Amino acid sequence: MDASATKSTMALLKRLLEILEQENAFDRTGNEPLIRFVHPEELQKRLPIELTEEPASEEEIETAIRQTIRYSVKTSSPHFHNQLYAGVDEYGLAGSWLTDVFNTSQYTYEVAPVFTLMERQVIEKSLELVGYPPMPDGDGILCPGGSISNMYGMVMARHKMIPDVKSKGLVGLPALVCFTSEAGHYSITKGAHWLGLGTDNVYKVKCDELGRMRPDQLKAGIAEVRSQGRLPFFVNATCGTTVLGAFDPVLEIAAICREENLWLHVDACLGGTLLLSEKYRDRLRGIELSNSVAWNPHKMLGAPFQCSLFLIKGKNALHEANCAGARYLFQQDKHYDVSWDTGDKSVQCGRKVDGAKMWLMWKARGTKGLSQSVDQAMSACNYFFERIKNRDGFRLVLPQYEGCNICFWYVPPSMRGQSETQAWWEKLYEITAKIKERMMIEGTLMVGYSPLSYNKIGNFFRMVVTCQPPPSEASMDFAIDKIEQLSADL
Ligand SMILES: Cc1ncc(COP(=O)(O)O)c(C=O)c1O
Repeated sequence: MDASATKSTMALLKRLLEILEQENAFDRTGNEPLIRFVHPEELQKRLPIELTEEPASEEEIETAIRQTIRYSVKTSSPHFHNQLYAGVDEYGLAGSWLTDVFNTSQYTYEVAPVFTLMERQVIEKSLELVGYPPMPDGDGILCPGGSISNMYGMVMARHKMIPDVKSKGLVGLPALVCFTSEAGHYSITKGAHWLGLGTDNVYKVKCDELGRMRPDQLKAGIAEVRSQGRLPFFVNATCGTTVLGAFDPVLEIAAICREENLWLHVDACLGGTLLLSEKYRDRLRGIELSNSVAWNPHKMLGAPFQCSLFLIKGKNALHEANCAGARYLFQQDKHYDVSWDTGDKSVQCGRKVDGAKMWLMWKARGTKGLSQSVDQAMSACNYFFERIKNRDGFRLVLPQYEGCNICFWYVPPSMRGQSETQAWWEKLYEITAKIKERMMIEGTLMVGYSPLSYNKIGNFFRMVVTCQPPPSEASMDFAIDKIEQLSADL
């Protein structure tokens, strides 16, 4: 880039920062609208969305940026509780921008020297957090999301049991079966499709009344599958289920996997963040006994999307299962120690340097700071739970919470004190969706809702409390008051 190009890049980025500031894009007070909801056809009319032959003028670009800010959902608002992620940690954001400036790939040390060291350090510290052995006996990789991290677990389990699948495929083998609970994330089913196992070979283990996998049902399922001539190879335990936030009993599941000689993967995409807290890490007890773990710091912790770790026990295991040995990229006669080239452990070729944003966040906050932010989020959860527990109109789906999700119904005044027939419940499910619609139209609050199909339960709210922006009692009160206010006439 010549000097004038550098100048114009700097001018553009400075202008972008000015606009972000003018438009209050970093607002965390909650005074700005969280969302300006417009239906897609109308939004298409309001935005200069069409791409044209001729370049846009500077003014048009600026308008497009302002409109993007205006109509985007402000996930950093204290009133966004709609997903398992929310706002972004400011150091994480700085780290993310830094990685974009250098637009490189994680595959070789040659093109990502600093980012390679950062990724390794993040993996080392995460192995420690889980209780896995340090490198090289423990290993890991940053993946494009939790779904892919879970698929890594499935591939690694299969490779351990039948390494020949890598070269010979599945032909002639009995059906390979994986186990996950009925509340487990759907990525296991998608993985079964993508890996050629077939979705019918995902065994959904029954849950108890708190949404946790039942070990007795797992054991029975394994026996049933074996008796059918199918081959169990992989068990997924979830720490922090997507909807209810439940934690499967990993200790008991690990004992079954040991007895049955099965790979145990822990999907701690959501709940893994609790490992940072002395107070809450016990909820994942037994995780160190597993063979692999998926953890998404981009969920509860507030690392920028995407930031997902796959961790594994076993020296060289990731490399052996995934390497293709492309010599144009991974030359073995380079002038440096090529064990620092991590790309052949991955299913990807080019890979975003996602570890760097997590590294900067962790460096800036220290483990202590991250831990405090988890405690603060959990204490806000507790406050919310205690406030709605016996409050008129609010009804909990579960009598307790373990992670950062709290699920509940809100019964508006007009429906209280009536006989709770099926029709009454159907109406409540509809009203839940209606309250959500009102939140979106008013633009003041976003709390997601979900049914629980395996339990035949209809819509209820899932309040998610994350570390970013740091939640407060005031933001919890706001959500409660707002739900009451929006439902008063329903
Ligand atoms: C428990 C659990 N595992 C895995 C995933 C998938 O993560 P990602 O969205 O990063 O693919 C999710 C997503 O919500 C999840 O809740």
